[in-house]
Amino acid sequence: MSLNYWLVPGGFAWRNYHYYYNNNNTNHHEKQTTKLIGPKGWPILGTLPHMGSLAHTKLANMATSLNAKRLMALSLGATPVIISSHPESAKEILCGPCFSDRPIKESAKILMFERAIGFAPSGTYWRHLRRIASSHMFSPRRIQGLESLRQNVADNMLMRVFKEMEEKGVVEVRGILQEGSLSNILESVFGTNGCLSEYQSGELGNMVKEGYELISKLNLEDYFPLKFMDFHGVKRRCHKLAARVTNLVGQIVEERKRNGDFVGKNDFLSTLLSLPKEERLGDSDMVAVLWEMIFRGTDTVAILLEWIMARMVLHQEIQMKACQEIETCIDQNGHLQDSDIPNLPYLQAIVKEVLRLHPPGPLLSWARLANQDTHVDKVLVPVGTTAMVNMWAISHDSTIWEDPWAFKPERFMKEDVSIMGSDLRLAPFGAGRRVCPGRMLGLTTVHLWLGRFLHHFTWLPAQRVSLSECLKLSLEMKTPLRCVVVGR
Ligand code: HEM
Repeated sequence: MSLNYWLVPGGFAWRNYHYYYNNNNTNHHEKQTTKLIGPKGWPILGTLPHMGSLAHTKLANMATSLNAKRLMALSLGATPVIISSHPESAKEILCGPCFSDRPIKESAKILMFERAIGFAPSGTYWRHLRRIASSHMFSPRRIQGLESLRQNVADNMLMRVFKEMEEKGVVEVRGILQEGSLSNILESVFGTNGCLSEYQSGELGNMVKEGYELISKLNLEDYFPLKFMDFHGVKRRCHKLAARVTNLVGQIVEERKRNGDFVGKNDFLSTLLSLPKEERLGDSDMVAVLWEMIFRGTDTVAILLEWIMARMVLHQEIQMKACQEIETCIDQNGHLQDSDIPNLPYLQAIVKEVLRLHPPGPLLSWARLANQDTHVDKVLVPVGTTAMVNMWAISHDSTIWEDPWAFKPERFMKEDVSIMGSDLRLAPFGAGRRVCPGRMLGLTTVHLWLGRFLHHFTWLPAQRVSLSECLKLSLEMKTPLRCVVVGR
């Protein structure tokens, strides 16, 4: 008897679904026609033991073997979850009206992300934040205005690559990319020309690192209602970090206000302080939003570029072809510029192909939450269910992509697939109302830096390149890339 209670499709968290279904399905005009499918998982833990560093591949295999690509139910502890590995049901989740909230992890809440764009419930406050960010942080005009910053950071990174090669005979790109990406986002948020002291920049870098580590930790209480517990001391560390962030970022905001030198400047903090009174954010909300930008903008770009460079090192013929394209586009001593990118379709195709094979957010990182009873793929999904999209599974599906494991940028020269969220076969930035607002800024940065890296050096392997993956908050290379460069 008791085993029957646990062993329902989807596992423990779906144990009352049958009764729920009988009582609620009749209220909907669109009735359920398909059955819930999913692994039974472990008692109490459900599928949690599979959610480690290769969760995306394990969930993809599970969905295939259970014939549940369109929709699979599972339990993460006591949390009922649905996961889509198919473009059609993914679209229903990401673009439908019922999944515009996110379930919030305790660590993210303590780290103030609930008052920032990523986790704010989808009401007036969230809309206000998105509007402010899209006009003052991510507008095409502002992205264009930041080109000289991106160029300076690229110059510095190239210099460091050269130095490291000279001194050590080998270049480990991860540290260089992370520092470049951090200083790029810090200067676009707080301003250029020494707006931050070296100490402040260093501290912010450390805080981003620590925040990543804490949010990536599997915290059991996120999946069980055990609010009073603090397994592994994660909560305590989050509180400490939040206090450090509030202190440091709060101090920077205060200083800027006191000096009053924000009028007419185009860094994000200055524009936030210059908003008309009725639109202005309170101090603690401003800190949360600034912190979110730094936190989100740093690693995503660095991780994506490391994957791209790994592919360039591994596929020399593709690297050469990309270089030829760049060389026909600009003169020999010229610098690659943003305005050259539209004339470099092969370079863009390389970036798309890496986003397909190594999406930084394979499970789209931040899940969605059903804010009312709804149907996905004609299955009744109760309010409070967590919904995920396995973009990695979709972008490796051989019924969707020809030769899906092969690295072939050429596929995007034949067919122009949009990666901005309109085509769910490849939506590495998500889709719908909560699509990544930083996607244009991220892509512009990645295109320019990749182009400049390839134009400056030939990149060769220093040792065998391992494409092993490790899913933390983002999907990272397990073994950092080490290469050798030769000047062009
Ligand atoms: C290569 C780079 C990036 C990738 C692959 C990426 C990916 C994603 C994904 C998958 C989501 C969830 C979308 C959804 O639920 O449909 C997201 C959300 C978000 N991203 Fe990005 N992102 C990148 C760069 C950035 C940058 C540079 C920033 C900011 C500086 C940023 C800020 C955000 C924010 C604030 C959200 C939350 C949006 C909301 O909930 O309304 N991202 N991103």
